[in-house]
Amino acid sequence: MPAYTFIGPITQLLSMSGLPSRGPLSDADLPVIENCGLLLRDKQVMEIGDYSDIRKKAGKLQANHIELEEPSVVVPGWIDAHTHICFAGSRARDYALRNSGATYQEIAKRGGGIWDTVQKTREADLSALAKGVIQRALAHLQNGITTIEVKSGYGLTVLEELKMLRAIRQANQQIQADLIPTCLAAHITPRDFQAGPTEYLKLIASELLPKVREEGLANRVDAFIEEGAFDPDTIRPYLKKAKEMGFQLTLHADQFSTGGSEVAIEFGALSADHLEASTDREIDLLSKSSVIAMALPGASLGLGCGFAPARKILDAGGTVAIASDHNPGSAPMGDLLTQACILGAFEKLSNAEVLAGITYRAAAALDLKDRGILQPGYLADFSIFYTGHYSEILYNQGSLKPKRVWKNGQEVFP
Ligand code: NIG
Ligand code: FE
Repeated sequence: MPAYTFIGPITQLLSMSGLPSRGPLSDADLPVIENCGLLLRDKQVMEIGDYSDIRKKAGKLQANHIELEEPSVVVPGWIDAHTHICFAGSRARDYALRNSGATYQEIAKRGGGIWDTVQKTREADLSALAKGVIQRALAHLQNGITTIEVKSGYGLTVLEELKMLRAIRQANQQIQADLIPTCLAAHITPRDFQAGPTEYLKLIASELLPKVREEGLANRVDAFIEEGAFDPDTIRPYLKKAKEMGFQLTLHADQFSTGGSEVAIEFGALSADHLEASTDREIDLLSKSSVIAMALPGASLGLGCGFAPARKILDAGGTVAIASDHNPGSAPMGDLLTQACILGAFEKLSNAEVLAGITYRAAAALDLKDRGILQPGYLADFSIFYTGHYSEILYNQGSLKPKRVWKNGQEVFP
């Protein structure tokens, strides 16, 4: 017997359906359904429509009734398509050093930065790592984020990367949010690997990626293309192998210097993420390609540097998704909605563009076709905010929190 749930009356439901996959959006385009009811069948949305019509239908189906007494806005579950929430330790020291004048890359050169987190993560066992992922993912779920991409990349040996990916899988089995794993073994060349970047990449391509496939630990591969990480020529053979093995690609690109986004285009990556250093040239190339430009305002805020040129990319016809980059180094805050709102204020993004960036355009960056939109047949992943107008959610820049959150047709918060 299917389980039916009825929720209403809803003052405004933002379905995000029928909007273009790329280019600018204006708030007038937003599909806002007023005074409606929402009917769920098992994990999915069954119908959205006039409150009393849906209520009657729900009665006949003996649906579980959830009557809302406050003015309420329903939005699709937010999707955070780029995080590094599997890690151990803290980098509070890096943060203080940066704010005293050292740069992210100077700290990395001195053996701090990513390498510091690698050492702490190697010391942690699988269950401690899984526990950390669960804690962070639960905090995100309570903020209305129902799908979270999670990268490895702090293990940097075959066994340690496998440990991270297994920890992410264990966490995924224990919480209601969906965790989408990505193998980021090509984060940096580990300091204790003497043979250099090319040999390191050969090793992970031949010994790690086949195991990741075999165990079904991830179907996405990421790499950090940057000075001090991997340059385009060094990374190409690795990306080629990963692609041949059937992995989908996503790249850390144009964070401090350019080069990465062109590689993303060359390899048909799903997304190029960061882009703070992209110039008009990269903006033009990205906008003409199918690669989704992923802005990571949390890294701009953590490092105190500029934002990705989201406005220019949208105006040139590109697609912009927004993610938190939640990680212990460059983006410790991990509050997607706050960061998306701040990016919107600085980059002059419409409410519609910000909302698209954390819903259906983020779903596209993860190649997920069943979420990011509320319409019949899609997953019943959504949040309810107690407010009378959707614009209040963005206006409050993250301080207005969802009162209730649903994932796969189940209430998961409070
Ligand atoms: O997306 N840029 C490279 N990787 C992460 C930072 C990881 C770290 O500093 O621990 C990022 O910003
Ligand atoms: Fe990142």
